[in-house]
Amino acid sequence: MEVVVKKDYDEISKLAAKMIADVIKSKTKPVLGFPTGSTPIGTYKELIRLHKEEGLDWSKVSTFNLDEYVGLEPKHDQSCYYFMWENLFKHINIRKESIHAPNGVAKDIVAFCKWYEDEIIKTGGIDVQLLGIGGNGHIAFNEPGSSLGSRTRIKTLAKETIKDNARFFKTSDEVPKYAITMGIGTIIEARELILLANKETKADAISKAIEGPITAMVPATVVQMHPRTTIIVDKPAASKLTREYIAEPRVLKTTKTN
Ligand code: PGA
Repeated sequence: MEVVVKKDYDEISKLAAKMIADVIKSKTKPVLGFPTGSTPIGTYKELIRLHKEEGLDWSKVSTFNLDEYVGLEPKHDQSCYYFMWENLFKHINIRKESIHAPNGVAKDIVAFCKWYEDEIIKTGGIDVQLLGIGGNGHIAFNEPGSSLGSRTRIKTLAKETIKDNARFFKTSDEVPKYAITMGIGTIIEARELILLANKETKADAISKAIEGPITAMVPATVVQMHPRTTIIVDKPAASKLTREYIAEPRVLKTTKTN
């Protein structure tokens, strides 16, 4: 596990985008896992810049999103799909059929979740999974108490998550109460994880995720078990860490593998 502490949001976003771009360039059929939320927006902006100004090619890339609110159509302006379309996909040359996201209006959610898991495997598995972290330590919508071995399924959102996300809706009553989320067991099968966090509001969750004991009560602690995890945080998010951490990740030499 590598913990990289950067000066600010701009620096964490640029580093995460560079690491993702390196994966895209090193694979013939790259498979990327993406989160929504405010944290990855800077990374997506930089990935768009790399496409527009440096020709980063997305034509062979497949993506899987972490989660979606139950009851929201992809066209709903607060759906995770809409967020991804507006903040990344519509700006790059990805094939629409290579974009995968949980279907919040699936008639049979259990069957859909199984299909989603199978699709990840059929596509070759996720090469790199980008993650944010909730103030309560969740990853995707795996709230505290989620099994560390959980698979894609429906989850009830925690009160704190509904409160945190109310800023995107007119009132907190409009925030959906359920979501479909990749499980923690699904997430840690990705070949590489990048966990991003900025702002002091994440300092507590980051300190527990990195320096605390592994526990289902802080789902992000599971990244400690993954052999290739990079946690990239800005100084405010790192403010409760007690050990010294590096400012640059080691250079990973990658070769074309699929
Ligand atoms: P945020 O959310 O990026 O909007 O802070 C992260 C999360 O809840 O996982």
